[in-house]
Amino acid sequence: MPDPILHLSNLDVRYGRTQALSGIGLSLYEGEAVGLLGTNGAGKTTLLNAVSGFLRPSGGTLELFGEPIHQCPPHQIVRRGLLQLSQERDLFGDLTVLDNLRLGSLARAPKTFDRNLERVFHYFPRLKERVAQRASTMSGGEQQMLAIGRALMAEPRIMLFDEPSAGLSPLFVQEIGAMMRALRNDGDVSILLVEQNMLLAAQVIDRFYMLRAGTVVAEGPVSELEQDHEELARRYYL
Ligand SMILES: Nc1ncnc2c1ncn2[C@@H]1O[C@H](COP(=O)(O)OP(=O)(O)OP(=O)(O)O)[C@@H](O)[C@H]1O
Ligand SMILES: [Mg+2]
Repeated sequence: MPDPILHLSNLDVRYGRTQALSGIGLSLYEGEAVGLLGTNGAGKTTLLNAVSGFLRPSGGTLELFGEPIHQCPPHQIVRRGLLQLSQERDLFGDLTVLDNLRLGSLARAPKTFDRNLERVFHYFPRLKERVAQRASTMSGGEQQMLAIGRALMAEPRIMLFDEPSAGLSPLFVQEIGAMMRALRNDGDVSILLVEQNMLLAAQVIDRFYMLRAGTVVAEGPVSELEQDHEELARRYYL
């Protein structure tokens, strides 16, 4: 077994006196898509924010490509190839689709711009038809696609998705799901996916971790979700 590219061990995170995560162990291997499941308030976003450097853990270790990152500010973690898509989409509403994509590629060599743009349009043909449209005038689903596209322009090696299906109609949920599956199958981006829609998660991920009240209460292969997602939902979500 190769070493994980992202490794959390015994991780604790607090908000003041409140312990939001305790003793979290999690590994992500190259080329994998791993799901982080759990009900509202379980600590999923907190975990992503700790990995991305927005929150300092109060204990445990956090390693990215074998290097400790618990002291790194967010921009250094991005530069090392890990990119988080937040629950808000953080687009520049007054700018066009193309300019939003340009901003995503600022930290990369200009010579890779065209290739990265083609890759984004390959995943989201809809964005190609709308290059000149202002981001704020796009539908919620289109904005989500743009946010993902902008992230891809930065050539991430690991992407963290925080409930990308939230608030989207079934058609867009399908499209985003298909895109994440394609991204995973193409193999150069590894994925950590937070999702409450277990059916969507099951289409994308290889393995899952289930969080409850800040701890990992179960983990396993996606086949367990497929067989038994109603039972799992009852056990961990209610
Ligand atoms: N800035 C904060 N200050 C204090 N407590 C916080 C803060 N952010 C989150 N929490 C608490 O930490 C716990 C975990 O929150 P978190 O946002 O990580 O949950 P989540 O699993 O992402 O939930 P959701 O599915 O609703 O997005 C919750 O009890 C929440 O109230
Ligand atoms: Mg959350």
